[in-house]
Amino acid sequence: MASTADVCSLQTYLDLPDHTMDQRIFAAKAKLGSDVVILGHHYQRDEVIRFADFRGDSYKLSQEAARAGGKFIVFCGVHFMAESADILAQPGQITILPDLNAGCSMADMAEITEVEDCWETLVRAGLTNECGDGVTPITYMNSSAAIKAFCGQRGGIVCTSSNAPAAFRWALAKSSRILFLPDQHLGRNTGYAQGIALREMVVWNPYLLNGGLDRERLREARVVLWKGHCSVHQRFLPEHVDRVRIQHPGIRVIVHPECRWEVCQKADATGSTEGLLSIIRQAPSGSRFAVGTEIHLVNRMRKEFAGEQKNVQSLDQSGCLCTTMFRISPQHLCWTLENLVDRNVVNQIKVPEQVKHWARVALDRMLEIS
Ligand code: 13P
Ligand code: SF4
Repeated sequence: MASTADVCSLQTYLDLPDHTMDQRIFAAKAKLGSDVVILGHHYQRDEVIRFADFRGDSYKLSQEAARAGGKFIVFCGVHFMAESADILAQPGQITILPDLNAGCSMADMAEITEVEDCWETLVRAGLTNECGDGVTPITYMNSSAAIKAFCGQRGGIVCTSSNAPAAFRWALAKSSRILFLPDQHLGRNTGYAQGIALREMVVWNPYLLNGGLDRERLREARVVLWKGHCSVHQRFLPEHVDRVRIQHPGIRVIVHPECRWEVCQKADATGSTEGLLSIIRQAPSGSRFAVGTEIHLVNRMRKEFAGEQKNVQSLDQSGCLCTTMFRISPQHLCWTLENLVDRNVVNQIKVPEQVKHWARVALDRMLEIS
C-alpha cells in the first residue's frame, strides 16, 4: 500500500509503469466502496476505462452524473464533461478530473467574450433581442460552462452528438434562426439533415470583424455556425472513404458527426460514440466496418467484435488520437483514488454558482427533450 508521502506526490505515480497500478486502483476503489462513482468516456484508453462503473458517450454520461450516488464522481474524460457532471450532480457531491490538463481543443475555440460579441452583432442587426427572441443559441456539450450558461440565459439549449437533431427541432419550433456553438461540422451536418440548405448556413469567424459576414449574408442565414472544429475528426477526408470502399467492396463506413460534411455525406451512417457502437452491435456476423472516430474506441471495437466475426478498422489508417483524452492515465486515476481514501480531494472541478444556475437550465432543457 502507498505511504502517505507517496499519496501526496503525483510525480511518484507518474514514474511507475502502467501495470503496477491495477492492484492499487482495485484496492482503493474497494476501500471507497459506494462513496465513489467512476464515469468513463469511450475514448479513454483500456487501462483506464476498465475501472469505470459506467461508460458512454457525453449524453449517457451526463445522465449518469445526474443520477449518480456517492460522495465523489471521478470523471475519466475531458474538462467540459467534468464541468457538466458538477453542474448536474446533487448538492454536496464532489466531481474530480484526474488530470486537469485533459481539455478539449474544440471547446477552447469559443471564448465567452467572443460569443458575447457575436451575440451583440446579431442584436444590432435586429435579428434577435437580448433574450433570444429571434435567434436560439445551441451549444454543443463540448463547450465551457460559461457558454452553456450564456445559452441557458437566452432561451437556448445544450446538445450532444446524439440529440443535436432534437435540439434543432426544438429551437426551430421557437425561432426561425439558430446560433450553433462551437462545432461548425456538427452544426452543418445536423442542419442539413433537417432540410436546411448549405447556403442558408454561414460561418462566424470570431477573428474577423463582424464574424467576416456582411449584414445581408447574416440576414439570409437560418443557421450561424461558429468557426470551431475537432482536430481529431477533421482529419478524416472524403478520399479516405473512397479509398476504403475500393480496398474493401461492401464495407460500411460509419463516422462521428464531428467529421466534415463531405465525409458524412459519403458515409453510410453517422452516430455519437454510443451510436456507432450500437450500429456495429446490431449488424450481422461477417459485417465489415470502417469507423471515423478516435482510435482508442476503434481499437476496442475491433477487439470486442472480433469474436462475433465482425471486422472493424479505422477509416484512416494513420489513426486519429485525442491527445487530451489520453492524458488520463492509470497513474492519475490511482493518485486520485488513493488520495480520496486518505480523504484528500485532488483536482476538484467546481463551477461557480452564478454560472451553474443558467448552465443547468440549458442542460436540463437537453435532458427534457431527449
Ligand atoms: P460523444 O458524445 O459522441 O461521445 O462525443 C464526444 C466527443 O468529444 C467526440 O469527440
Ligand atoms: Fe474534443 Fe475532439 Fe477530443 Fe472530442 S475528440 S474531446 S471534440 S478534441
